[in-house]
Amino acid sequence: MIAVACDHGGYMLKQEILKHLDKRNLAYRDFGCDSEEAVDYPVYARKVTDAITKGECERGILICGTGIGISIAANKVKGIRAALCTDCFTAEATRLHNDANILALGGRVVGPGLALKIVDTFLDTPFSQEERHKKRISLIEEE
Ligand code: RB5
Repeated sequence: MIAVACDHGGYMLKQEILKHLDKRNLAYRDFGCDSEEAVDYPVYARKVTDAITKGECERGILICGTGIGISIAANKVKGIRAALCTDCFTAEATRLHNDANILALGGRVVGPGLALKIVDTFLDTPFSQEERHKKRISLIEEE
């Protein structure tokens, strides 16, 4: 199950992503927001991080205007590794190396075509399971 949320700056891109997840028959929960009316991105980051830390969802997608604020907010939560990606290389690398559990996107930064490729790369790339990466992730989690 994929948890998805955005603020007003990410709303249009979230709609594209949800259509894409529907086409791929992937199960998701949409935690809002539901329009382009201004809202506070930390509130929406927390909805997705809660779903992941409670074990209700395995992965998350968070979108704000830049992807920066919503990823900063998500990364305050223990056990969350949110990666802000603007290309497929980093989306693949963050799954292989960081076992990132949230993809953050900037709705005012990436166009929908690229964003959907980034989403696919993030969702379809498994963690490498390599010991050196496991060790580094455990060092993050210890803090
Ligand atoms: C909202 O205007 C904007 O600040 C927000 O979407 C995001 O870009 C914050 O980092």
